[in-house]
Amino acid sequence: MQNETLTITDNRTGKTYTLPLYKGAVRAIDLRQIKTGPEDFGLLSYDPAFLNTAACQSAITYLDGERGILRYRGYPIEQLAEKCSFLEVAYLLLNGELPDPAELDAWSGEVTRHTMIHENLKKFMEGFHYNAHPMAILMTTVAALSTLYPEARNIHDPEVRRLQIIRLLGKMPTLAAYSYRHSLGLPYVYPDNDFGYTRNFLNMLWKRTEPKYSANPVLARALEVLFILHADHEQNCSTNAMRAVGSSFADPYATTAAAIAALSGPLHGGANEEVLRMLDEIGSKDRVPAYIAQIKAGHGKLMGFGHRVYKNYDPRARIIKRVADEVFEVTGRNPKLDIALELERIALEDDFFVKRKLYPNVDFYSGIIYQAVGFTPDMFTVLFAIPRTVGWLAQWQEMLQDPEQKIARPRQLYTGQPVRERVPETAATLA
Ligand SMILES: CC(C)(COP(=O)(O)OP(=O)(O)OC[C@H]1O[C@@H](n2cnc3c(N)ncnc32)[C@H](O)[C@@H]1OP(=O)(O)O)[C@@H](O)C(=O)NCCC(=O)NCCS
Repeated sequence: MQNETLTITDNRTGKTYTLPLYKGAVRAIDLRQIKTGPEDFGLLSYDPAFLNTAACQSAITYLDGERGILRYRGYPIEQLAEKCSFLEVAYLLLNGELPDPAELDAWSGEVTRHTMIHENLKKFMEGFHYNAHPMAILMTTVAALSTLYPEARNIHDPEVRRLQIIRLLGKMPTLAAYSYRHSLGLPYVYPDNDFGYTRNFLNMLWKRTEPKYSANPVLARALEVLFILHADHEQNCSTNAMRAVGSSFADPYATTAAAIAALSGPLHGGANEEVLRMLDEIGSKDRVPAYIAQIKAGHGKLMGFGHRVYKNYDPRARIIKRVADEVFEVTGRNPKLDIALELERIALEDDFFVKRKLYPNVDFYSGIIYQAVGFTPDMFTVLFAIPRTVGWLAQWQEMLQDPEQKIARPRQLYTGQPVRERVPETAATLA
């Protein structure tokens, strides 16, 4: 049996401490006993941007960034992407097991029943400026859902929680499609419960005057796979936002809106939109070397490259590359793919990128597919938010059931002024 402890000597005092390890980690709170004297608050750990801090324990997603492994509830992402529907994966993430056929049927029925949104919300959306970013509309309308379901505040009741989870999963594609159609000035299309999750979404996006919209099955399946790949990714920026905001016991709509806000940034979900802009800026394959030289000289970043935890090829990017081939068979080849492939080829051979372990991430190819399917770049992050909602909700639920969790409240190292007097008094305060 290994000795699962850590011995630390404080060179300021010469004292030695033996701390227990928990699942291979030291508990930061155990450092607090390390003091230079009775007045000392105790040792803190300092970790800006959580580079080496586990903020929770989780049984949902396993990620090994060094080896390029991603699993949901133990199942390799490659198998789930090949063999499952998005709603099966959603069930798995939320409940820990894949559903049997009867469970899947019941689950799909429940989610489908909640795809409609209240007419008030539709009116609310109509008030947005004509060129409002769809991600901003989505974030705001998800927050507005809490005005319609006040009982959602009762987050400690498992049945209430379950109902809000189903509502959010059901309504997310509807809100996303309405955001999109709003930005194009098109009338909203009501959900059609004859369709599955992604086909219904495509229906609400693209239906015009035809009595029944029929999505291309290859494109619908491609979107389904992309949804599966984006469903969860353990403790990323938006999931951390979900857990942090949820830890104050805010309702799930406010909490999900906070996660959407985090996802909207260009360093997180907004990256695939940036990839497309970058490929447009490069313009042609022959200009790739000059663009890479510019990045190496410190002007900007290669969007869609690099990851906080993957220091190897992102396994999702590998699957997406395959999906891209299937999509392009239907839509015709997106010319940006050639620029992207050339960027990848040169970057993977270049010492600058190799040394820093910078590989294409999930966003590098997803935008090219989305564009080929017919989406404008400002919809890309919305397409990320729909499936990630299930991951956020699974993590939120897990956080609420974890007896060790409390309101998230980090410490700081104060670097400001010491106490000082406000002298002399000004004329304004004397008056
Ligand atoms: C994802 C990301 C935010 C991770 O950041 P991080 O873990 O903080 O990594 P760092 O910024 O510490 O990067 C380490 C080094 O690689 C460089 N680097 C990281 N990503 C880079 C990129 N995309 N292009 C060029 N250089 C990059 C950094 O400048 C740094 O170089 P240095 O050591 O010389 O200072 C970052 O890689 C990035 O901004 N990528 C582009 C945006 C993107 O695709 N985001 C989607 C993520 S799914």
